[in-house]
Amino acid sequence: MAERYQLLYLSRLSSDTTPLCVAEIVRAARQKNQAQRIRSLLVFDGLRFCQYLAGEAAPVRALADRIRADPRHTDFRLLHEGVLRDPSPLSRSSLGYALCYDDSLDRIEQAGGAQAIELFARLLPSFDREPGSPRP
Ligand SMILES: Cc1cc2nc3c(=O)[nH]c(=O)nc-3n(C[C@H](O)[C@H](O)[C@H](O)COP(=O)(O)O)c2cc1C
Repeated sequence: MAERYQLLYLSRLSSDTTPLCVAEIVRAARQKNQAQRIRSLLVFDGLRFCQYLAGEAAPVRALADRIRADPRHTDFRLLHEGVLRDPSPLSRSSLGYALCYDDSLDRIEQAGGAQAIELFARLLPSFDREPGSPRP
């Protein structure tokens, strides 16, 4: 059984990209993540992205490398990566999408490491999630 892996990063929308790209990212990512058995949650605050990825280690790391190189965002900062022991409430679909309107992403960045993932999970109910998202 392959090890289960989780990863959380923060990044910033590129100055030459509009938020309109987010819908395209979500649409394409849903299908690709499903094929790779990757589960994910992408939070966008109008300026920054915070994305949680979970799955087998190799595909999760390979996807993070592809995402890091994507010119639609910059300033990619890895907050935490490591083994996922228990199923996470953050990873229930191939790509969940949520909006955030306050300083939550600053708080997650300051927490850093495994605590950033814990805080991300605690803040999840305060995010504006797409209709039909499972309740945490
Ligand atoms: C903020 C952000 C999040 C992304 N999330 C995903 C994702 O969860 N899954 C995915 O396949 N691509 C995601 N992408 C797109 C990848 O960077 C990349 O375009 C895609 O994986 C390329 O796939 P391809 O090499 O098969 O064309 C994301 C891009 C950005 C900017």
